[in-house]
Amino acid sequence: MNDLPIGVFDSGVGGITVLRALTEKWPGEKFLYLADTARLPYGAKSSDTIEQYFIQNLKFLLKEGVKAVVVACNSASSVLMKKKIPSPVPIFNVIHPGARLAAAATRTGHIGVVGTRATMLSEAYVQAIKELSPEANVYQQACPLLVPLVEENWVDDPLTNMVIYRYMQTLLKHPIDTLVLGCTHYPVLKKAFKNVVGASVELVDSPMGIIAELDGAFDLATEGDGQIDVACTDLTPHLENLFASMLLPRKANSIRLVDLGR
Ligand code: DGL
Repeated sequence: MNDLPIGVFDSGVGGITVLRALTEKWPGEKFLYLADTARLPYGAKSSDTIEQYFIQNLKFLLKEGVKAVVVACNSASSVLMKKKIPSPVPIFNVIHPGARLAAAATRTGHIGVVGTRATMLSEAYVQAIKELSPEANVYQQACPLLVPLVEENWVDDPLTNMVIYRYMQTLLKHPIDTLVLGCTHYPVLKKAFKNVVGASVELVDSPMGIIAELDGAFDLATEGDGQIDVACTDLTPHLENLFASMLLPRKANSIRLVDLGR
């Protein structure tokens, strides 16, 4: 069992931000990353559709043989929080850990959350943060244009910075001191978010959350060569390059196209 990979999935390249953090912390582990690129974006879909995708992704990873599953997608994690999806291996969502970090980081109790429409509509972060700090004020903002911009690799780009600036205007009407980047595509935009919200606002993201969650919960290999295998439901030269650049300095051992049996 210990030798089996950890399954990690997202709709696209966003979950690579989580995968990278996991491989940095536990380089000796094997990882199987599933990117459901054929059906991206999840964040624009209904919770019923996301749930179906979730179950298909989980089935695929279980069939491949994994010892745990990290749902490196906030939109899919928000579905998991509403429904108990049976699994023989532990499943980790990214929302609870992010909420825990935000509740610990805030000094004033005013917390902003940005994410996809699906995640915002589910109010999963609002619920998770309020369970920990009932007094907290949580303000949400959906940023649907950011996932396509990251998938286009328009990071550190004036247009992307402007989009972030525009989305943040509503949130910045509130006195937030903590901002949750509640989408795994957003950590690559951290600098741009920081430039808009200013140094006094603490940023929390899914990679930070999942590392805090798994650290100590599992006996994971910090030493050794490990392995990273990538499976995608659609693969183009652009995607292949993006995967490679987002994973740096690590390199995937393999990348293959899979059919989830639809
Ligand atoms: N990375 C996914 C998340 O964290 C969103 C991408 C999408 O909309 O498919 O929600």
